[in-house]
Amino acid sequence: MHVIGGTASTALAERISRELSNAPFGIPFTKRFPDDEMYVRVSGRLEGEDVVIVQSTRTDSDVLELMLLEDAVREAGARRSFVVVPYFGYARQDRRFFPGEPVSARTLCRHVELEADAVVTVDLHSSQTLTQFTKPAFEASGIPAIARLLRDRPLDVLVSPDKGGVDRVRRMAQLLDKPWFAFEKRRIDSEHVELSLPPTLPIPLEGVHVAIIDDVISTGGTIVEAAKVLKKRGAQGIVAACIHGLFLKDAFERIKAVVGDVYSTDTLGNPAEKASVAPDIAQILERLVAG
Ligand code: R5P
Repeated sequence: MHVIGGTASTALAERISRELSNAPFGIPFTKRFPDDEMYVRVSGRLEGEDVVIVQSTRTDSDVLELMLLEDAVREAGARRSFVVVPYFGYARQDRRFFPGEPVSARTLCRHVELEADAVVTVDLHSSQTLTQFTKPAFEASGIPAIARLLRDRPLDVLVSPDKGGVDRVRRMAQLLDKPWFAFEKRRIDSEHVELSLPPTLPIPLEGVHVAIIDDVISTGGTIVEAAKVLKKRGAQGIVAACIHGLFLKDAFERIKAVVGDVYSTDTLGNPAEKASVAPDIAQILERLVAG
């Protein structure tokens, strides 16, 4: 098996190759033509091989690079290609919220799977999105990796900033054997949210250690607001953890100003990257290759 790391996921791709018994690892050559069109070229002996392409789709340019890499790998004569998208961009637009909108997550699924024999991703915003793929698609989870980090910290209760994260926080709570609850979230605009506590809490918040668990940290607005509410209710120690850390603009600094620590997996490079999903992805790939 060969592993190719696209520009959005080079470091994680290398970690995955190491997990796959040091599978040959390559970084494609990429450049832009004067008119800004993208050019990619893969190297190595890929003919007749199983090839894994690792590329998060955070930016539109990442999406295009992935599509070109898939075609390049096919042209190189690969036997099968497995596409790993650690951070699956556009996953939050998983339905039509207002008339006239696309279901962007579905569009991405259709394009990402185009030349792939199977797709592997990590903690989709909603696992339902997996059903949009017509090829075999698998979802690894960053929750166990984050749970391993939290296990060594004082921790009394886990919190999801919204109802959409209930499954995630429940899974983490099971692994750590802790109580949990979810805020009610109302989004005011793309950077501001309003959070309200549920009418009953599993434990009183005065003096306790809390971990806020979210799938994505983007502008940081959600975590900052959650930390403010928890502090107001007397929480003593607050940490924030996410699977996918986008940390746009000064999000990391703003969050660090209100919580004790911030944790993220390595689906995207960021300053909070403290746990790797490479072993979880490699496990799925090993099963795919064997099957
Ligand atoms: C939204 O539903 C997601 O689960 C996250 O809560 C959201 O993307 C976080 O965004 P931000 O950091 O901009 O508040």
